[in-house]
Amino acid sequence: MNNPSKSKSGPPIVGVSKNIERVRELIEHVASTGLNTVVFGESGVGKEVVAQNLYQKSPRLGKPFIKINCAALPEGLLESELFGYERGAFTGAEQRKKGKFQLAHSGVLLLDEIGDMSLPLQAKLLHVLQSGGEFSPLGSEKDVKADTWVIAATNHDLKKDIEEGRFREDLYYRLNIIKIYLSPLRERPEDIPPLIDFYIKEYASMLNNRHIEKPGAKVIDRLCTYSWPGNVRELQNVLKRMLVLGDCGQIVEELFNSERIVSPTSGADDKLNHHASLSKILDLGGKNSPENQSFSLKTAKKNAVEMVEREIISHVLGKTDWNRSKASKILKISYKTLLYKISDLNIIPPEK
Ligand SMILES: Nc1ncnc2c1ncn2[C@@H]1O[C@H](COP(=O)(O)OP(=O)(O)OP(=O)(O)O)[C@@H](O)[C@H]1O
Ligand SMILES: [Mg+2]
Repeated sequence: MNNPSKSKSGPPIVGVSKNIERVRELIEHVASTGLNTVVFGESGVGKEVVAQNLYQKSPRLGKPFIKINCAALPEGLLESELFGYERGAFTGAEQRKKGKFQLAHSGVLLLDEIGDMSLPLQAKLLHVLQSGGEFSPLGSEKDVKADTWVIAATNHDLKKDIEEGRFREDLYYRLNIIKIYLSPLRERPEDIPPLIDFYIKEYASMLNNRHIEKPGAKVIDRLCTYSWPGNVRELQNVLKRMLVLGDCGQIVEELFNSERIVSPTSGADDKLNHHASLSKILDLGGKNSPENQSFSLKTAKKNAVEMVEREIISHVLGKTDWNRSKASKILKISYKTLLYKISDLNIIPPEK
């Protein structure tokens, strides 16, 4: 739950494109209305920033702002998180628990990744919205009523999901009274220089303005032609790498090289890559999808951490020409820990 102090600003929405100007305009118009709103756009494009702005410019500021990710929880758990339950409603329900819908009373409930909500739960949500916020928690005989402003966000094309039977049309029209669409960053390259400017300043002050190499005009021009599949979040990561590691030119080259590997592929290939790394993390031997096998979450977490560590350490070692002392300083770990990790993670130096 987030209860920021009463300011009327919201996190900054940086940009000069028509799309961003329109989004700012819509926020100003919609914030006071409390009308159900859906924010559409690819991952990392700023949907949550828009939801936060709607909240912070609305009369609901100061009341709860609660976010729930509909893709992150299995159906049963999502239902109990949303609507709450009575003691004894199911095995393990030892205490009565309020749902997020009720906790967000008089404030905002952000239903993130609404496109991933199951059809039965969509039906229940529709019913709640139609009844003006009335519902009964699991295992309860009594109805509760909550005055909750529902803002939904999705990276799905919900119209297509409706055609394919994955999203209820009636819920779509109930939720989508106001539609706010954020274009992918590649379709508004004019926003890239102001975003770079904004985040360089922010990160430089976070790094206490210590000696850092800022991207020059040439690098910025190149960044404006990149496809940014991860949108603003990816741009933030690239800028952090540039500021910490320096050598902006090299980082740009690597970016475009990775684009060459990734971009000609279809969505199907992306899925394959995703499944390959998922199966590595889950230790499935690359054979099967996680739904069909059992796996240990603990082991999966350990594998995921190792994969990320291996990637970062290899990257920094590559940058420092395998100067372990320099690399350990950049990574902020001791020289001894780095040596241990190189051996433990089986990171092999390139042949000269
Ligand atoms: N126009 C913008 N100006 C400044 N920062 C932005 C802008 N758009 C996005 N960001 C920043 O980019 C990051 C990603 O934004 P956000 O989390 O809102 O994306 P999202 O669309 O909700 O992504 P996802 O689909 O992955 O949840 C955040 O740190 C956010 O502050
Ligand atoms: Mg989000």
